[in-house]
Amino acid sequence: WTATRDKSCKLPMPKGSMGFPVIGETCHWFFQGAGFHASRRQKYGNVFKTHLLGRPLIRVTGAENVRKVLMGEHSLVTVDWPQSTTTLLGPNSLANSIGDIHRKRRKIFAKVFSHEALESYLPKIQLVIQENLRLWSSNPEPINVYRESQRLSFHMAVRVLLGFRVSEEEMRSLFHTFQDFVENVFSLPIDLPFSGYRKGIRARDSLQKSIEKAIREKPLHAQGKDYTDALDVLLESAKENNTELTMQELKESTIELIFAAFATTASASTSLIMQLLKHPAVLEKLREELRSCGLLHDGCLCQGELRLDSIFSLKYLDCVIKEVLRLFAPVSGGYRIATQTFELDGVQVPKGWSVMYSIRDTHDTSAVFKDVEAFDPDRFSPERSEDREGRFHYLPFGGGVRSCLGKQLATLFLKLLAVELAGGSRFELATRTFPRLISVPVVHPTDGLRVKFFGLD
Ligand code: HEM
Repeated sequence: WTATRDKSCKLPMPKGSMGFPVIGETCHWFFQGAGFHASRRQKYGNVFKTHLLGRPLIRVTGAENVRKVLMGEHSLVTVDWPQSTTTLLGPNSLANSIGDIHRKRRKIFAKVFSHEALESYLPKIQLVIQENLRLWSSNPEPINVYRESQRLSFHMAVRVLLGFRVSEEEMRSLFHTFQDFVENVFSLPIDLPFSGYRKGIRARDSLQKSIEKAIREKPLHAQGKDYTDALDVLLESAKENNTELTMQELKESTIELIFAAFATTASASTSLIMQLLKHPAVLEKLREELRSCGLLHDGCLCQGELRLDSIFSLKYLDCVIKEVLRLFAPVSGGYRIATQTFELDGVQVPKGWSVMYSIRDTHDTSAVFKDVEAFDPDRFSPERSEDREGRFHYLPFGGGVRSCLGKQLATLFLKLLAVELAGGSRFELATRTFPRLISVPVVHPTDGLRVKFFGLD
């Protein structure tokens, strides 16, 4: 497994350790979390080699290095997820498609996240958030914010994106199966009866069966611009692009969308709640902004219909969400494979090696952010805009042709959640101190973050 250097290239290989046979450094990575990459980066530099999830890998940090990888899609690198991810997401997923097929699929998906489509999802997202916040407040005990945020983002994905009308019981069972799927998307590709990989495959098959049933039973509504859900938009968009999506493609796309939305938004929602608890002055400033634009009156959110433009025009809210995603980027990075040998930071990345570009480490080490560890939303204010010095210093949604398709939807969801929290909720930390954070598979607090919600003032 000690994948070799390109002998025709004079540059040295990146420094680093390949760990044990077969498993490489997977166990170190799993137990050390974010500390794993940070410790190796300090020891070996911004570009180092390691061996994770069954294959040799070059890990890349730093805006300039990441820019070269992301802008080199199709010429220097192409997508290359670990085998478990490829198998579980399936060959028709966006994550696994390359070249023209990827471009064509992205074009079809783009309409799902268009301005018009988002406007039509907005009231439903708001309703799902309000329902969940009401449930959180009606619980006499503190809630586990991370677990409840997972449920919230799953409800959002199933009800709003896919428009499935499933019973509470079916929703619970779907949610459990989905958790099994997510927990094993990044697993060692060992197909044995009790391996995580096998568990993931079983969960995928079960999900696909339920989704096929739901799609077959689902009335399709898309008529002109009056969309009901993202699945309607997807089918209409495919038609406009003269493409017929097969049932298998629909099932894989559906699972990919829920997967992409699920852990990421749950992680970001938890981080948002934790930061609002830690920084009451930020929460107060958000309330002030809501008051000044007439959305908050006498301590109550105005019930009138919120529009996409009004949400996106709230400047301070925008800074808060950006700062949450900078300091607690849910996705730690993305996987690629080198399609030719190239130079990065004075070392060679040999053809055929896997490359993982890092988001969180790039944020954490970027010189453009002053006092990089501080939670300071105003760094994104028009006066300071610390991220203006090149977009690859700040990349919670990745960059280049594979950047996050759901970026606007995720941002809208987080903004609506923040508005509801600032506008109509009272919530307190239920533990003496704030919990530690772990970063595998996404950033989340060790105890899930225990918070007591008291509901509307
Ligand atoms: C890709 C982050 C929410 C759909 C990505 C990538 C990142 C990312 C970093 C690029 C990965 C790479 O370079 O390989 C996030 C974050 C989110 C979020 C931080 C929430 C805070 C969502 C949501 C959806 C979504 C809500 C859709 C419902 C996708 C899709 C891709 C993607 C389909 C693959 C794009 C492609 O391969 O062309 N996301 N995401 N994401 N995201 Fe998101």
